[in-house]
Amino acid sequence: MTKTYNITSIRQDFPILTTQVYNKPLVYLDNGATTQKPQAVINSIVNYYSTLNSNVHRGVHSLSQQATTAFDVARTTVQQFINAQHAHEIIFTKGATDSINTVATSWGFTNLHKGDVVLVSLMEHHSNIVPWQMVCNATGAVLKYITLNADLTLNLDSLDELLAQGNVKLVAITHTSNVLGITNNIAHIVSKVHKNGSLLLVDGCQTPQHMQVDVQFLAIDFYVFSAHKLYGPTGVGILYGKENLLNAMPPYQGGGGMISTVSLDNGTTYATLPHKFEAGTPNIEGNIALGAAINYVQSIGIDAIQNYEHDLVVYAQQQLLQLPEIILYAPTADKAGVLSFNMNNNHPFDVGTLLDKQGVAVRTGHHCCQPLMQHLGVAGTVRASFALYNTIEEIDVFIGALKKTISMLS
Ligand code: ALA
Repeated sequence: MTKTYNITSIRQDFPILTTQVYNKPLVYLDNGATTQKPQAVINSIVNYYSTLNSNVHRGVHSLSQQATTAFDVARTTVQQFINAQHAHEIIFTKGATDSINTVATSWGFTNLHKGDVVLVSLMEHHSNIVPWQMVCNATGAVLKYITLNADLTLNLDSLDELLAQGNVKLVAITHTSNVLGITNNIAHIVSKVHKNGSLLLVDGCQTPQHMQVDVQFLAIDFYVFSAHKLYGPTGVGILYGKENLLNAMPPYQGGGGMISTVSLDNGTTYATLPHKFEAGTPNIEGNIALGAAINYVQSIGIDAIQNYEHDLVVYAQQQLLQLPEIILYAPTADKAGVLSFNMNNNHPFDVGTLLDKQGVAVRTGHHCCQPLMQHLGVAGTVRASFALYNTIEEIDVFIGALKKTISMLS
């Protein structure tokens, strides 16, 4: 039986959505920066501190064992959500940025040497550029950039050319652009990358909240994402890596929890996966709450969310295209939850501020994507990004507020 998408009931799950801003109902369109949290996630955190709080993998006492069980269940929930083969291929980190830094540092310092090449694309956010610049600078490897087509999609000829130039050890690419909403065809890209004998890291910051991700089907080597963009808490991220790759990588940080034995005379041996990469007491309640967020998303159904959001984005895009003052970036590409635009020559900050005064929350600026802004020839954009709880009525409010902003700024 097909489940109906009960938007009224879904919105009631998110207490913050009743907030008023300047005496206007909040229209929250900054979901690419962070999503709001359903009551189930809030309850999970409150419940953890009310009934379970204790350290994990360290105690014989009942409370610690219950917390450990809940923590381990959360890992399995993530494993099943992205269809990883093993739970120990799921590493809890403090965010997608931390996950990429783990790979850049641990894998990069072990495997990159002078003359090796790492590829990233022009549509990456800084989290998937700067860690690679740092490791390339330190190892003598070279960082090269895959260009974009005129319609701002990834230029696959550029990828082919860069791979053919040789020595490419790893390609790090976004699944979905946080500025353009374009979703890259990872199945196609991975076959090119693997044929070349290189590894593929996919930055999923903007993807698993919008569509099904299957890391085994896609055969991705590393996949990263953040909990807070998937209705979970901040400070929690996931690094998925294939078992053989993670096993061959040294720990990223040293400390409690990641060791097997420590001796003053004989040094340290490390724990097995996943603990080898989880030094110190983890964000226990946050990781458990990520499990709650995934359960919530799955209770609605990721395909249902994808269909619903697709209609929202198509509708918003149609409305924006009717406004001659609006320059919409990549208007024809298939979008996942994100639209970026400018209003004639007005500064995005001014547009965003006037929208905020009307209760509409958008992000303005470079969106942590300065190279992409340079490519577009702008200082920044206004970005409206959508989530499973947004509505057509909210888009109408947003477009009405935009029209008012146009008349105020012209
Ligand atoms: N990377 C996040 C964004 O796109 C913070 O807003």
